[in-house]
Amino acid sequence: MPTRLARSKGDVTLVDANPARRPLESGEALGAPSVKGLEDESRQFALLIGSVTDYAIYMLDPDGYIRSWNPGGERIKGYTSREIIGQHFSRFYTPEDVVKGEPQRGLESARTQGKFEAEGWRLRKDGTRFRASVVIDPIWQDGELIGFAKVTRDVTERYEAQLHLLAAQKALAQSQKLEAIGKLTFGLAHDFNNLLTVIVNSLDLIGLQNSNDERTAEWIEAAQRASDRGALLTRQLLAFARGQSLAPELHDINALLARSAELYRRACGATIQCVFELSEDAPRLEVDATQFEAAVLNLIANSRDAMPGGGTITVRTRTVRAAPQDAPDESERGYLAIEVIDNGEGMSTDVAERAPEPFFTTKEIGRGSGLGLSQVFGFAAQSGGFVLLRSLPGGGTTVGLHLPVPVPEPAHGTTG
Ligand SMILES: Nc1ncnc2c1ncn2[C@@H]1O[C@H](COP(=O)(O)OP(=O)(O)OP(=O)(O)O)[C@@H](O)[C@H]1O
Ligand SMILES: [Mg+2]
Repeated sequence: MPTRLARSKGDVTLVDANPARRPLESGEALGAPSVKGLEDESRQFALLIGSVTDYAIYMLDPDGYIRSWNPGGERIKGYTSREIIGQHFSRFYTPEDVVKGEPQRGLESARTQGKFEAEGWRLRKDGTRFRASVVIDPIWQDGELIGFAKVTRDVTERYEAQLHLLAAQKALAQSQKLEAIGKLTFGLAHDFNNLLTVIVNSLDLIGLQNSNDERTAEWIEAAQRASDRGALLTRQLLAFARGQSLAPELHDINALLARSAELYRRACGATIQCVFELSEDAPRLEVDATQFEAAVLNLIANSRDAMPGGGTITVRTRTVRAAPQDAPDESERGYLAIEVIDNGEGMSTDVAERAPEPFFTTKEIGRGSGLGLSQVFGFAAQSGGFVLLRSLPGGGTTVGLHLPVPVPEPAHGTTG
C-alpha cells in the first residue's frame, strides 16, 4: 500500500496514504474515520513497520538523510536507530558506488521516474558486504517532495545460490563439450596411430633395402621424422581422449620430480628460476612415470611461455583432501597435488575455460599446437585424478595436477 508523510511538530511520521483514510478535512461527511481512529491506525502502522525484521524499511528526507529506522534495518545493517537516524544513507554504499554517484542516482531516479529498483552490494556497520535488493519510492505531499521510502532486503544467500548454480551449469556444459571433443579425438587419433604404425614400419623396411643409396636414405629419414612428429601428436591426442595405455607403478613423486629436475630446469631457460617446494611426507602414488614427466614438462613449458621477461616457476607438492571431480557427491579422499605456479601473464576467463581443449592455443603458428594441457587433463583423468587451474590476467597461473593417494594410505615413515 502506498504511504505518504505528514509532518507533525517538525517530525516526519508515516501515515497510511489510502485516500479513504486520509486525515479529516473540516466539514467532511459523517462516516469518515475519526481523528482518534486515525491515530490508532497510525500507531498500528508504526507497530507493523516496527515488527518487520526481514526488510530494512526506513525513510529519508529529500536530501537522503535517514529519518526513521526499523528492526529489519538494525538486523540487516547492524545500526541501532539511535546510531543511524540523522546520518546520510550513502554510508550503506560501497566506496566505489559512492564515487560513481549511485546514492544520488537512486534518489534522482525515484524522484523523476516514480520508483527506483536495483540490486547491488551494500555495507553493514562492521564493514562486511551484503547483496541488497533495494526499492526507493518518492513521497510527495501537495506537489512537494518531502522524502523517500526505502526498502532493502538482504538477498546474499539467494545471489550466492544463483552464482553457484550458474557455475555448476557452466562446468557441466564445459565437461559435456570436452567429453564430445574427447570422443571425436579418440576416434581420429586411434585410426591415425594405426596408419602411422604401418608407415613407420614400411619406412624402416625400405631403409634396410636401400641402405647404400644416400639420396633415398635422406628422403626416408625426412619421412621418418615427420612420422615421429605425427606419432607424438597422436599420442598427445590419445592422452587427452583418455585412450592412452598407461603403465602405472608405485612411485615416490618427489623422487620422480628430482630425477627430471635437470630436464625441467633446461626447459625453463636462462631467465627463469625453477624452485621446488616438495612436501616431506608425500605418499607414494600409482602413476605412469613417463606420462607424469611429460605432464609436468608441459606445465613448466606453459609457465615459461607466460613469462617472456623472466620470473620464477615453483613446483610444489602437497597433500589435499577433495571429493572426486567426476563424483562430487562422494566423500572426500586424499590427493597429492603437484602444482606448477608462475607469476606470468595469466589467462582471461575465456582462455582459461578453453585451455584444456585440444588444439586450443593463443600462441603463434609453430610456437604451440595446443596439446600440452590436453595431455595434462587427459593424464590426470585417466589416473583417477583431476586438474585445478587458477589464473588471473596479469596475476599468474597455478595449475594443480591432483593424483589420488592409494587407499588405504601407506603409514608414514614405513617406506622411503
Ligand atoms: N601458465 C600459463 N599462463 C598463461 N597462459 C597459459 C598457461 N598455460 C596455458 N596457457 C594458455 O592456454 C593455452 C593452451 O595451452 P596448451 O599447453 O594446451 O597449448 P600451447 O602451450 O599453446 O601449445 P603446446 O603445449 O601444444 O605447445 C596456451 O596457448 C595459453 O594461452
Ligand atoms: Mg603448452
